[in-house]
Amino acid sequence: MAHLLITGGAGFIGSHTCLVLLQGGHSLVVLDNFANSSPESLRRVGELANLPTAGRIGVIEGDIRNPADLDRAFTATGHVDGVIHFAGLKAVGESVQQPLRYWDVNVNGSRLLIEAMQRHDCRTLVFSSTSTVYGEPQTFPISEAFTTNPLHPYAQTKLAVEWMLQALEASEPGWCISRLRYFNPVGAHPSGRIGEDPLGIPNNLFPFITQVASRQRPLLRIFGADWPTPDGTGVRDYLHVMDLAEAHALAIAWLLQHQRSLPVLNLGTGRGLSVLEVLQAFEACTGLAIPREFVARRDGDVAKLEGCAERAAEILGWRANRSLEQMCSDGWAWQSANPRGYGC
Ligand code: NAD
Ligand code: UD1
Repeated sequence: MAHLLITGGAGFIGSHTCLVLLQGGHSLVVLDNFANSSPESLRRVGELANLPTAGRIGVIEGDIRNPADLDRAFTATGHVDGVIHFAGLKAVGESVQQPLRYWDVNVNGSRLLIEAMQRHDCRTLVFSSTSTVYGEPQTFPISEAFTTNPLHPYAQTKLAVEWMLQALEASEPGWCISRLRYFNPVGAHPSGRIGEDPLGIPNNLFPFITQVASRQRPLLRIFGADWPTPDGTGVRDYLHVMDLAEAHALAIAWLLQHQRSLPVLNLGTGRGLSVLEVLQAFEACTGLAIPREFVARRDGDVAKLEGCAERAAEILGWRANRSLEQMCSDGWAWQSANPRGYGC
């Protein structure tokens, strides 16, 4: 049982992770500025965990770039044993338009968080990184030994933080750090009470499909039918967000128990799925037809990303076990019950 600080805990992956951690008996303080989320997600997390929100989950509205907000989070409810750092910006296209903002929030924000951890004598950290740091590999599955090749500011800022953490470990004893490179998290908690609530038009495939299914958007545009993949559409390694949330609980427990760092870990299923395969599974599982049209490739897209997650299995005993059908049915349970997300 630990007391943990969760930055960005109100967001998509953070909220599901908070639930798993609360159910595991941990007490939490969440620091979030709600730039891309709503406090309602945490209220529902408290409800699902069957705890009053004010009980074992404290919520601080604040910014990771503000040392006073960080100090409040570290002192709100006693000594913090470890931090899971989700807070950040994640849209690739936006990062190309606004690179300085991405370097500020993702890199400067992470640096200020680390300095606050030093001030408050906390040296256990799980960091959200991304499979997009691998760029456009030509062989699969992608293991952690692959060369990194960040092709846009979003990936560059995530890799910069990974390097900052590596240098920190080397320079100062006592740090216990885990860098987790996620593939494509999708779906929602099976209750349909918490899920992904994108602002505006979704960038990603799954929320776009569920919004077409709920008739908020007329059709799905498939970005490219001419990729060098078996059916010509892009292939990705989708994993259920609850599997991903469980990986975080295992990673922080491992760090607290072993008192040393973990190597970089990929988190995925090891199985790539094309856009058409996802559509077919979603239609079969919901009984809904998804209108679609083929359009040109999206700038910055790659043909295929498929991860090897054997290292996470060996070290943490973790595997992404939930099926594509569960990703579809749980994502649809969330979208159909909350067509406008936390705005309901
Ligand atoms: P999200 O946007 O839903 O959650 C991020 C949270 O951080 C939000 O609640 C947002 O309000 C908060 N936040 C943003 N800037 C902040 C700041 N300056 N101070 C305090 N809080 C701030 O995103 P997510 O999908 O849950 O992703 C969580 C993390 O995982 C991000 O760091 C993202 O880069 C990384 N990641 C996500 C994916 C994905 O596909 N969703 C893939 C790989 C990596
Ligand atoms: C995108 C980001 C990636 C980020 C990930 C998770 C880009 C170029 N890449 O990845 O860096 O880590 O989100 O946030 O933005 N697709 C369609 N129509 C749509 C949406 C998507 O056909 O409306 C296709 C894409 O071309 C791709 C697949 O669906 O083949 C998955 O797309 P998406 O969900 O955006 O994930 P990534 O491209 O992996």
